[in-house]
Amino acid sequence: MGWQIVSNFKYTKLLSERKCIFAGKMKLLVEELREKRTLGDAGLMELLTSEDPSADACLFAAARETAEAHFGRQVFLRALIEWSNICRNDCLYCGIRRSNPDVRRYSLSRESILRCCENAWRLGLRTFVLQGGENPPAAEKLAGLVAEIRASWPQAAITLSLGELPADTYARLRQAGADRYLLRHESADPAHYARLHPAGMRLENRLACLRTLRELGYQTGMGMMVGSPFQTTGNLLADIRLLERFRPEMIGIGPFIPHPATPLGAYPAGSSERTLRLYAILRLMHPDALIPATTALSTLRPDGRTAGILAGANVIMTNFTPAVERAEYALYEGKASLAVETAENIRKIHEELAAIGRTVSPSRGDYQENHSQDTDNHV
Ligand code: 5AD
Repeated sequence: MGWQIVSNFKYTKLLSERKCIFAGKMKLLVEELREKRTLGDAGLMELLTSEDPSADACLFAAARETAEAHFGRQVFLRALIEWSNICRNDCLYCGIRRSNPDVRRYSLSRESILRCCENAWRLGLRTFVLQGGENPPAAEKLAGLVAEIRASWPQAAITLSLGELPADTYARLRQAGADRYLLRHESADPAHYARLHPAGMRLENRLACLRTLRELGYQTGMGMMVGSPFQTTGNLLADIRLLERFRPEMIGIGPFIPHPATPLGAYPAGSSERTLRLYAILRLMHPDALIPATTALSTLRPDGRTAGILAGANVIMTNFTPAVERAEYALYEGKASLAVETAENIRKIHEELAAIGRTVSPSRGDYQENHSQDTDNHV
């Protein structure tokens, strides 16, 4: 078929332009990371901070190959449903923080959420991600709806992202049929964590939640923003090491993007190059992990999704929140896909992926351990 030849040609051309022609020290570091799935601090720092494009090409090529060896050329799509922007927290970077009075607060109705799932299912998506502000009483009530979704779409995966909740709420939601939970750790350094969050929020609590989630049998996701205010490369190294100890099934990383109505709104956005480098480094350290090319990256650069996949990511989140509410779920300024119609967006993603020789996987995209080395999972 004509289009296939064209897309294969484009893909080959792209690869040949980006192949690893770098023969120096960086190549050796990449090969060591690929083989051992870990690297010393100095080596990781060099990969993370190198401004040499040929070193990046080398790193991305290795990450891409590792992703391909574990997942083939398939990418998993997730349907993001931002079910409520009511949040008890006041994170200093986040647009839907409690003390931002400009946000019109909403919670989607049961019917609206079910319609989002139906819509996503019809377009071929097999994971529904229910994300919302931290609101324990509302989260507790969500269990009934999770059970309903589970019964209506027994073949779909249900992912939740609802912040820090009591262990018994996590347990009830899991029992109702939730499979996965996303809870970014935000920063592995307690002092840095404290500068991003109000007094009262503690890294230790978040890590305790992550351990509980794992014990309950959730596939667990963690991660952080790249270039958040006050973040040093040393902080990122600590994040990499925390991920290495915990070995989450999912790793969510995106650049920080300032939101003007927050206390950190005047700080510059994080670097998309550094974000891509982190995808690649983490892919080499966690060959089986589910790593999304996040919406925040697409907000910073229009080719964010494909750039992410070509740096080793293997998941794309697409927004199924109804248009009216979507505008009120602005975690940061200029969030990508605000105006894009869902079906149109999915078609575009299929096209973008075809152009880089990838297809959308028809499966749920659960975590599957293939060749991971034995590690202890203690944080
Ligand atoms: N820029 C980028 N990411 C953000 N998040 C929240 N606010 C911002 C921002 N200003 C991320 C956090 C959170 C996730 C839901 O969104 O990492 O865990």
